[in-house]
Amino acid sequence: VLTVTAKDLMNPANYRHGVPHELLSRLRDEGAVHWTDPVLMRDEDRPVGFWSVMRHAEVQRANRDWETFSAADGPVIPPPPPERRVTTIVSSDPPAHTRLRRLINAGFTPRMIAKLDDLIVRRVDRILDDAAQAATCDLIRDIVYPLPMHVISDIVGIPESDRQWVFEQTETLIRCSDPDSGVSRREVEAALFDYAMELTAHKRRHPTDDTWTLIAQATFTGEDGTSSQLEGWELEMFFMILALAGSETTQNALSQGVIALLGHPDQLEELRLRSEFLGTAVDEVIRWASPVLYFARTATRDVELGDQRIDAGDRVVLWYASANRDERAFDEPFRFDIRRHPNAHVAFGGGGPHFCLGANLARKEIATMLSALSRRFDVELTGEPEWAGAGPLSNVGVSIERLPARLVPIA
Ligand code: HEM
Repeated sequence: VLTVTAKDLMNPANYRHGVPHELLSRLRDEGAVHWTDPVLMRDEDRPVGFWSVMRHAEVQRANRDWETFSAADGPVIPPPPPERRVTTIVSSDPPAHTRLRRLINAGFTPRMIAKLDDLIVRRVDRILDDAAQAATCDLIRDIVYPLPMHVISDIVGIPESDRQWVFEQTETLIRCSDPDSGVSRREVEAALFDYAMELTAHKRRHPTDDTWTLIAQATFTGEDGTSSQLEGWELEMFFMILALAGSETTQNALSQGVIALLGHPDQLEELRLRSEFLGTAVDEVIRWASPVLYFARTATRDVELGDQRIDAGDRVVLWYASANRDERAFDEPFRFDIRRHPNAHVAFGGGGPHFCLGANLARKEIATMLSALSRRFDVELTGEPEWAGAGPLSNVGVSIERLPARLVPIA
């Protein structure tokens, strides 16, 4: 008898202590694809019914078939109301998507990429030097949180003095999808959008070699031959996506990675002694954490997936966190193994045009931090992880917010 239903996936209470893997596993065992009757997810939205794709093969298939599974309604489960529909890199299909994607790619200039390795190493050293000064620290606030924030800000071109504020806002934005948070989403969005517009005006007046200068100045040639610039909403959403996509995800992977390694001291020691496992270790950490819970799509035609008949117009949710623990795709998926190879995880998406643009950047940040942290310190956890997040109301789901620790330098 099935005692859990896909509806349980929608209950934020099931995410208070991390991703509810037991629930995902039971649904995955029952079938590849499940239907949930319409539920009201947020007061501001209409009730929405949706399909949940739980298994690796079906997630990959749907992810790659962008013509059948459109991203135009955005990545969270409730589609935006018509007046808030915008075309962004995550909520568009080719050819509009191709143009936006090329634009960000162009922002990652060869000069920027060349500087990146050095920049990440220096950031990691600075963060660890600072943390080493204190007798105790919070692993999340002091070590995991600052790295992706500074790296993405360096790339995008957010001035040092503004970073703390910008990232407090993006963090609040994720948290306030939680109905219990008491924060107004609109207010935070408005403040960030104002900031993005100011930054755009500034970059247009004082261009440099960062991504935001390129995005602010880029001109497109439309299908009718006219040229235009990204404006208003589009530009603001772009900014938010860059600030959100690059930080919370990488933080999530790093914090869960540190905990997994501390729980497997033999593997931590192996990583310390043998750097050749760093590459596979990083992908295992990313599979293990699956920092993006799911991305949603809309079917553009009637289609069969995992023995279910999906109708044109239905919402379809690709559960990456479930696919990454699918025993049909991974040998002993609940075993953390830094030597795992091959490791065809779908943490960066299951392939197709939206595959994570920052995958290699994220890998580099995680590798540099895990390697330096394990070489320089013995980490002792001095408290329990504190989880927070909106669960299924956001793509990131849940992250660890606080984790008290002591860093003991290795002589
Ligand atoms: C471990 C860290 C990360 C994880 C797990 C992750 C995961 C994902 C996932 C699942 C998607 C959607 C894939 C799809 O729809 O098929 C995505 C898209 C994206 N990611 Fe990441 N990401 C990470 C880090 C980053 C970083 C550091 C950046 C910084 C540039 C970034 C930028 C993006 C962008 C711009 C997209 C949208 C791409 C598109 O729609 O074409 N991500 N990411």
